[in-house]
Amino acid sequence: MVTNRESGTNVQAIADGIYRINTPVTLPNGDGFSFNQYVILDEEPMLFHTGLRKLFPLVREAVASLLPIENLRYIGFSHVEADECGSLNDWLAAAPQAVPLCGTVAAMVSINDLADRTAIALADGELLPLGRHRLRWLDAPHLPHAWECGYLFEEDTHTLLCGDLFTQGGADLPAITASDILGPSEAFRHAMDYFSHTNNARTLLERLAVTEPTTLACMHGSAWQGDGAALLRSLADRLAQ
Ligand SMILES: [Fe+2]
Ligand SMILES: [Fe+2]
Repeated sequence: MVTNRESGTNVQAIADGIYRINTPVTLPNGDGFSFNQYVILDEEPMLFHTGLRKLFPLVREAVASLLPIENLRYIGFSHVEADECGSLNDWLAAAPQAVPLCGTVAAMVSINDLADRTAIALADGELLPLGRHRLRWLDAPHLPHAWECGYLFEEDTHTLLCGDLFTQGGADLPAITASDILGPSEAFRHAMDYFSHTNNARTLLERLAVTEPTTLACMHGSAWQGDGAALLRSLADRLAQ
């Protein structure tokens, strides 16, 4: 469903109760790229990633196609960058019951200063039920970047909200695919070296793999369906090369 014809912002379900909001953009060098946010509809609805501050009107319009935005309860994100949480305060103003949802490092270092409302800071492994959906926070410091980085695994649908992992370039990719995303994301990683090269990458990826995700909710490009554990282990192998 296209929610804004001018920008091409669109919304599509990628798992039961989980929706991908996608805005295609053109980078300064002319290449296509895209920014995704995910909405989990439940008793306590969550928006994961806010999008860039300048995208707020488009993302708000898209979220409003799914639920009244003032019903949002959590504004979650993987780490502190403009595309992950640039419009956090706009969302807190638009949704009076909403609070930031992040890891303990993000809350301590940045969010309890930057945000207009106090964050709920999840410890590594901590579970947060939204209703039917249950989120588990997994710390992933410096994977691919930022000390405060972490991910949310949704246990009901086995969806890993995997942020910048498996970032694919391009502006017109399908909302969800079962075809290879490791090759395209590795090509993007080699072109734009956004990984920190932490020595702990394999250990951290293995902790994500043992959740056995069947859907990977990528932040840039298509979401993916398949054997997520195998794909995460393949990424670990590629990073070690
Ligand atoms: Fe990032
Ligand atoms: Fe990102």
